[in-house]
Amino acid sequence: MVVGYRCAVCDAVVDVRTPFPWRCPNATLADPHHVLHLVESGELRGELDDPNPFVRFGPRMAWWAFARVNGMSQDDCIELTRRVASRFEVTPLRRSPELSELTPAEVWVKDETGNVAGSHKARHLAGVLAHLLAAERLGLLVERPPLAIASCGNAAVAASTLAEMVGWPLDVFVPTWMSEDLGALLRSLGARIHRCERRSDDPPGDPAMLRFREAVAAGAVPFSVQGPENALCLDSGRTIGWELDAQLVDAGTAGEWRVIVQVGGGALAACVGAGLGSRVRLDTVQAEGCAPLADAWSRIADFDHPERHWSQVMRPWPDPHSLADGILDDETYDWIADVSVMVRSGGAPIVAGEADIRRAHELATAAGFNVSPTGSAGLAGLLAIAGRLRPEHRVILIMSGVAR
Ligand SMILES: Cc1ncc(COP(=O)(O)O)c(C=O)c1O
Ligand SMILES: [Zn+2]
Repeated sequence: MVVGYRCAVCDAVVDVRTPFPWRCPNATLADPHHVLHLVESGELRGELDDPNPFVRFGPRMAWWAFARVNGMSQDDCIELTRRVASRFEVTPLRRSPELSELTPAEVWVKDETGNVAGSHKARHLAGVLAHLLAAERLGLLVERPPLAIASCGNAAVAASTLAEMVGWPLDVFVPTWMSEDLGALLRSLGARIHRCERRSDDPPGDPAMLRFREAVAAGAVPFSVQGPENALCLDSGRTIGWELDAQLVDAGTAGEWRVIVQVGGGALAACVGAGLGSRVRLDTVQAEGCAPLADAWSRIADFDHPERHWSQVMRPWPDPHSLADGILDDETYDWIADVSVMVRSGGAPIVAGEADIRRAHELATAAGFNVSPTGSAGLAGLLAIAGRLRPEHRVILIMSGVAR
């Protein structure tokens, strides 16, 4: 079970009984490069017999351990899970005959397009919300602070969907160019939308992110899918890896499983790797127009402890561009966890050419997946390494983010 958190950068330790363990206690606005990672001990694979993955894997999660050590019963935790995560089901893993034609290997798809809010993003956020509801129930939170997120993509839709489900106020900070359609969808889900213009006295950086940080400094909860902003997103996000781990057994096919994960901020790859374990090789993929993780990977051998040299290793990408516009984060915020899951599993970063990003989207759509170019980017990674795949390989791709 989870017993606490340790900062991957400065080694600060936080006990699991602590409420609101979002950020490393040593992180400041001037020194934001810290990230709390989970510390586990004893029985890691506890589970309950329930079809809902958030109940089934509940005892493995940090919010659950927080609730239990502070006095909530297992039944209380199950009841709370049903309030915030009743709509989650195990998403399908199936062999794709069409995509398997493309390489000598078999291609299997974990389809997240039918998940809550149309992507895997709600997985990351449900644990944050469960922690808040548990704190409220334990009397550790008397007034509800607003939730805050900076996103104009799948994460914003997921955040709005979950917040509405439990009636918690949410502020979404978006760029001025966000589409009206998405704005209407977020509003219909009850979110308060803030279009963020650049102000003349703003420091460099994304204005939506600056306003988000200000809201958090004023007391809002970072309802974020980036580990450095909220460590708990790296907790319940692991459900995707735990589901896969169980599904590989059920698939019953001989062969060598591996997974290719598209990376933006890096939380998805971190969680797939943490849930699946190191037996399954995990390769990450980014588009050639924004590949800061591959860039960082090329520098890690220069340092004994690369995680202590964040700004030298992870350099913001100067001009992010790609059709896969959901993975254009100029920095891979969760690079430390991503590097670690690749090193442990024998994986590596893949950089996909823009032509492969486009072709992957066409192929995925033709194969029947109603997915965005971001969500099919894992297939672009497969196309990039197709020549190195062998018949015994069983490659898992994650199709996430329904085409809107
Ligand atoms: C559909 C889809 N897949 C993958 C990702 C990448 O996830 P992460 O930012 O955690 O690396 C995103 C992120 O926005 C996404 O929307
Ligand atoms: Zn720290």
